[in-house]
Amino acid sequence: MKNYKIAIMAGDGIGPEIMQEAVKVLKLVEERNDVTFELMPALFGACGYFEKGDAFPQETKDICDQADAIIKGPIGLSHEESKKIPIDKQPERGALLPMRRRYKTYANYRPVSLPQSLAHFSPLKPEIIGDGIDLIMVRELVGGLYFGNKEVGVNDDGLRYVKETLEYDENQIRQIMHHAFKLASGRKKVLHNIHKSNVLKSSVLWNEVMEEVATEYPDVKVINILVDAAATLLCLNPTQFDVMVMENMFGDILSDQGGGILGSLGLMPSACLGDEKAYYEPSHGSAPDIAGKNIANPYSMIGSVAMMLEYSFGMVEEAKNVWAAMQGVFADGFSTADLSKPGSGVKMISTDAFGDKVVEKLKAMPT
Ligand code: NAD
Ligand code: IPM
Ligand code: MN
Repeated sequence: MKNYKIAIMAGDGIGPEIMQEAVKVLKLVEERNDVTFELMPALFGACGYFEKGDAFPQETKDICDQADAIIKGPIGLSHEESKKIPIDKQPERGALLPMRRRYKTYANYRPVSLPQSLAHFSPLKPEIIGDGIDLIMVRELVGGLYFGNKEVGVNDDGLRYVKETLEYDENQIRQIMHHAFKLASGRKKVLHNIHKSNVLKSSVLWNEVMEEVATEYPDVKVINILVDAAATLLCLNPTQFDVMVMENMFGDILSDQGGGILGSLGLMPSACLGDEKAYYEPSHGSAPDIAGKNIANPYSMIGSVAMMLEYSFGMVEEAKNVWAAMQGVFADGFSTADLSKPGSGVKMISTDAFGDKVVEKLKAMPT
């Protein structure tokens, strides 16, 4: 029997609420399969800072180092609450970016998916959604502006200034491109390369390396799109996309737009893959506006668990069952508050009721 150690970091805001539902599903997956999961809870985020003085405490690093995979809830505080923590110790700079760097999780897969039967969740017209949206954004996660040199100071004119650099080397670009091309090769064989080479030198290098890597995947057709145009096309014609590859900051912004065209960030799970370690987290944040109310959508967190089953443990069929169980809950006409606005015809259920229904559906499925 396989045994996997999983670090569980519930995070801040809605994190603990949606993580609880993901753990329910994980426990059922364990019961149904020839596998044991050793769950190792750890503090990460503002909770870590307030309890241990560090958003990514040493104990958490030790747990993550030992883990076969890590699942992480969203971290962070509201704009006002953030001010209680010194800037460099805030959960984003003090925990999330250091974790991405520590485990070199450079390939961030952010699926944006909505079957035609759920077109009513989307703010887009049904004719735009057509047969459904099913694309995956591949975001470079450990380079670019996020990790470049930063300088803050006062210049010769006495003005405060800041300098942040967008850095990539060719190896960083090459490794993310291989992920994107391989994914495209196994799907529709079309890769949309998102760039801004009309302005940024980093995009010029990005495109050069992309073209070199493309020669190794002759069956994949590349379509180059400037990032600003891509933002429009995501609204006007999202079904033309299948695999999209982009640098860190572009991916941050476009993937939230992805949540927008689906109808909720609650539908956005993700996988953050390195060559040796992977962690899984929703694409969205800690949603302080709805935290503690048992109304957040746990789909993104449960979906992140499904991605862990697939990518870290090779449990591809069981991952499909988890997705199907969640789709089954939607098909029965239920969802959380984000997707059950008055007049939508969708029956509103709480976060934990959603998790319970997913568990019921999964129990009914053959292994
Ligand atoms: P957010 O993603 O937390 O919320 C944006 C909107 O989406 C809110 O209205 C929220 O209620 C809604 N939303 C998000 N997830 C939802 C869910 N599962 N179900 C229903 N509705 C959901 O973005 P924000 O408010 O800009 O950021 C809040 C905090 O989260 C900030 O501190 C930010 O830095 C942090 N953050 C963390 C991560 C992460 O941990 N990877 C990602 C993004 C933002
Ligand atoms: C995300 C988040 C993070 C990012 C923040 C919280 C650092 O927005 O995972 O999309 O910008 O990468
Ligand atoms: Mn983001």
